Amino acid sequence: MTDRLHAWLEGGYVGEFVEDAGGRVQLRYDDAASDAPVSLSLPRDGSASARAAERFLDNLLPDRREARDWMRRVTGAASTRTFDLLAAMGGDVAGGLVLLPTSERPKSPAEALLFAEDDAIAYRISSLHQDPDQWWERSEPARFSLAGSQPKFALASIDGSWFWSNESVASTHIVKPAHRENRGAEAAEVAAETLARQVGLDAPAASVLEVAGERAYIVERFDRAPRPNGFVARLHMEDLAQALGLEGKNKYSIGAKPIITTLRQHDPSDGAAHDFVRQLAFNAAIGNADAHAKNYSVLLRPTGITLSPLYDALPTRLWPQYDQQLAMRIGGAQYPQELTHDHWSKLARASGLDEERVRGDVQAVYDGVAERAETAWSALDPDQASRMRDLALEQTAKIARRSP
Ligand SMILES: Nc1ncnc2c1ncn2[C@@H]1O[C@H](COP(=O)(O)OP(=O)(O)O)[C@@H](O)[C@H]1O
Ligand SMILES: [Mg+2]
Repeated sequence: MTDRLHAWLEGGYVGEFVEDAGGRVQLRYDDAASDAPVSLSLPRDGSASARAAERFLDNLLPDRREARDWMRRVTGAASTRTFDLLAAMGGDVAGGLVLLPTSERPKSPAEALLFAEDDAIAYRISSLHQDPDQWWERSEPARFSLAGSQPKFALASIDGSWFWSNESVASTHIVKPAHRENRGAEAAEVAAETLARQVGLDAPAASVLEVAGERAYIVERFDRAPRPNGFVARLHMEDLAQALGLEGKNKYSIGAKPIITTLRQHDPSDGAAHDFVRQLAFNAAIGNADAHAKNYSVLLRPTGITLSPLYDALPTRLWPQYDQQLAMRIGGAQYPQELTHDHWSKLARASGLDEERVRGDVQAVYDGVAERAETAWSALDPDQASRMRDLALEQTAKIARRSP
């Protein structure tokens, strides 16, 4: 049983997470560590709320119990407790952290490279089609953990070849083979990220990976930066459940207003808050109801926080098995189709943001989505492409209307 995890942040030792006999988890910052916090919910002055450290760690693991169970079986971890799983898989997680059960400094990447053959990558994809919770393979050395409930794995691209990631070799890409029930999900997620960029949002490069007869969505990690030696550095980020010190299992009950309040508190220029509203608007405009608090992140840079680029922007409207209720109500609206300008104004007023700016930003996002309604979704099956087009046009027409 592990009760201690040594934490490295962007390459420097930052301290240790410890669990006491009563199950209380704490992050003890090292005196010599830089001033950068591990989380907005874990400030350096020790004012963290009682459960923030435990929740922060838990939020680094897959959402589904079945995926955690598979993680335990593959690694031989003592249990599915957060500490035991992260001791085995905390080498490559979201953001700039590396978590290790011992105090040893991670080896240099050149000493820890493990080549990922095309056949092995294709096999990973086909295994995830068979069982969406089997994120790792017993026979492969991949050591990563990511949140979310969709099937996925991580890869490191170095000099044009693929490698498995670990504490020394940071992954550069995330691969998500679509769940069988989500017809066209790979193309839809690529189209959404591309469209987001076209309407002026920050979004990572995404495409469909085709390897040895298998296909999957693949996206560049924005929490990584190239280094002159050909490897990548980790950049720190956390999702909004972590930033607010909340439990991932409550991701659907975290509202837009507390998120905006936290963003404004840490970025008084309101830049991060307005970027969040623009992502919120984009998700609503493309019919993505699943944009909960773990689908928004902040990058923690030495100069302050910024909202991360957009990710996980799947238009859930395409698949009836999804709950189409918005993960975060907007000005009281529960469904994307209900939204008018008045809802956005209400959200702006309730969260203290400049109402005219919010209205203008939201209108620009909806207009951008509607202008590209004919072309943006052309890689989808024709029935899905026409549904996306109709949705964009209807919703934008509604947003343009003001109440009398
Ligand atoms: N492009 C990216 N760069 C860095 N981190 C990412 C990126 N896309 C996703 N993530 C991280 O991986 C997690 C899981 O990805 P996500 O696409 O949200 O999967 P799911 O569909 O299972 O929710 C996210 O919560 C986020 O922390
Ligand atoms: Mg997600």
